[in-house]
Amino acid sequence: MITAGIGLGCDYNPEQWSPDVWREDVRLMRQAGIDIVAINIFGWAYLEPRPDEYDFTGLDAIVRLLHEHDIKINLGTGTASPPPWLATRHPEILPVAADGTTLYPGGRQAWCPSSPVFRRRALALVERVARRYGEHPALALWHVSNELGCHNAHCYDEDTAEAFRRWLRKRYGSVDALNDGWGTSFWSQRYGDWSEVRPPGQALSARNPGQVLDFHRFSSDELLDYYRDEVEVLRRHSAVPITTNFMVTAHIRNLDYWTWAPEMDVVANDHYLDHRLGDPTAELAFAADLTRGLAGGQPWMLMESAVGAVTWQPHNLTKAPGEAIRNSLTHVARGADAVCFFQWRASTQGAEKFHSALIPHAGTDTEAWREVLRLSATLDRLDEVAGTTVDTDVALLFSWQAWWACDGESRPSQDLRYLDQVHRAYNAVRELGATTDVVAPSAALDRYRLVVVPCLHLVSDQEAAAIQAYVAAGGHVLVTFYSGIVDQDDRIRLGGYPGAFCEMLGVSVEEFVPLLPGHEVSLDTGGRARLWTERLRTTTARPVARYVGGPLPGVAAVTRNAYGAGTAWYVATELRPDALRDVVREAVRTAGVRPLGPEGDGSVEVVRRSAPGRSYLFVVNHGTRDAEYAATGLELVTGDAVNGLMRIPAGEVRVIREESR
Ligand code: GAL
Repeated sequence: MITAGIGLGCDYNPEQWSPDVWREDVRLMRQAGIDIVAINIFGWAYLEPRPDEYDFTGLDAIVRLLHEHDIKINLGTGTASPPPWLATRHPEILPVAADGTTLYPGGRQAWCPSSPVFRRRALALVERVARRYGEHPALALWHVSNELGCHNAHCYDEDTAEAFRRWLRKRYGSVDALNDGWGTSFWSQRYGDWSEVRPPGQALSARNPGQVLDFHRFSSDELLDYYRDEVEVLRRHSAVPITTNFMVTAHIRNLDYWTWAPEMDVVANDHYLDHRLGDPTAELAFAADLTRGLAGGQPWMLMESAVGAVTWQPHNLTKAPGEAIRNSLTHVARGADAVCFFQWRASTQGAEKFHSALIPHAGTDTEAWREVLRLSATLDRLDEVAGTTVDTDVALLFSWQAWWACDGESRPSQDLRYLDQVHRAYNAVRELGATTDVVAPSAALDRYRLVVVPCLHLVSDQEAAAIQAYVAAGGHVLVTFYSGIVDQDDRIRLGGYPGAFCEMLGVSVEEFVPLLPGHEVSLDTGGRARLWTERLRTTTARPVARYVGGPLPGVAAVTRNAYGAGTAWYVATELRPDALRDVVREAVRTAGVRPLGPEGDGSVEVVRRSAPGRSYLFVVNHGTRDAEYAATGLELVTGDAVNGLMRIPAGEVRVIREESR
């Protein structure tokens, strides 16, 4: 891909250090086997200290130093954060919050995506950076801006209102069509003229859901348009691959990366363990699988991760010995061909001074640094894995648009959250030992034995028809509640829920019957459920589980339907994890999926990467007890031959080059 073998890299912010530290840095980078460093991410204030006055002395020196030490460069265009002079001269670039408050500069990313002034100034900088370094031999990758939309995805100023109207005109053509799309007959919201249309700022009551959904779409498109503008400048001066770092992570949902991914030369993701979640490791696996989906199944790059603590969670936990290596190898198992960290050397000042780094404040006589050296040596031993792809015959459909629509302001239960439902379904498959591709609802499905469709609230007619055709042709699908309810305009599909999927699932739901927090219902299978139930009638499906007691005694909670040559399962309630796993196990078995890993709590993950003529089995043991796995081949981490049961010590990872299967 970008580096030879499995790459190791980091963000490097030399602006924070003096030149004698730079020399020590490159020496240590060599020692740690760093292949690629990301620089100039936040370089603007140095490169253009005053309007139109450019100074490349510092960046030239760093580029030269890295090149002399044979370290490849992932060059930031430098536009992630404007320098103070820009906001001082042009306060109109500043983001405006939903309540109309203009946000101060002084943090980062304080620019509105629709600001023409910001765009002009940023592109002028990119032009100079591209011209100067575009053909430099050390340049391996362009890094456009940084985490576009991390803080500034939604802006509510006048520039945005103008841009939103332009976007809407293109989508709808006429005000009448817009009125129809947004359902403005409700609450006297009907528009008579384009000039009346605005972004959905803070309001007294729930806002128009169609307007909110389109604003999400627009905001994602607007930043993608900005990305394209930077790319257009870079391409004029350079043939080097271009990307930007995605944030496929639990707490950021503002960009529809399915529309972005095809425009990346390499898909790159930033991933940090999130200790606010019940199971951060399971989320890591999900995010890695989704990133691979974005990369179309091809290898991708972990652009940022942390060796220890971050600074932006309420409680910033460090990592246990070996955890950073294990996390990194989990990303590699799931398709990453490069593992990079934020950042090289821990800052002494600034908002991230307590963020972990490859070189911590305590220096190199530390466990953290020794772990970096161990990770580097391990990745070197895995170089031959690069270029292979992950094998699986299970897919899970994921949609940012369904997320936006599902988590809107007025819904049957505020406790129903899209990502929770996706994680639950994903975890059930993971705990059965199977690997899942996470793909778009529009993806080609025919190569999968089983397709899991969690909470796909919004689905287009075309997507629904393709899922149905997949089942009719012999595919197996498992759909969970609140799927198929609205069309692309967020308009309810009439005639019974789950609208788009009634025929395929062989059920019809008359009404949702959500449960209060703390309430549970029992099933006749012995399982339990919470949050949600449905007054469901089977048409052609047969019940697999029914409620005992609760608001709907005797009503089916889980169903199975023979549809065409395939099978469609429906889970109409939020089953407890063990009960959900029981249903998914049946679906997995019926579909003929043969999980590679053991069934359990997900602490032992087994994933295969392969290419014609070779394959590698990754066995990751997140647990606190040693695990065993049967394999034959050469184990690459230890260099030991394996023939039969292999021991994977607690917290470690083994990678077997398999003898021909
Ligand atoms: C990312 C960002 C980095 C750094 C890191 C800290 O959001 O791209 O610049 O802030 O998080 O975890």
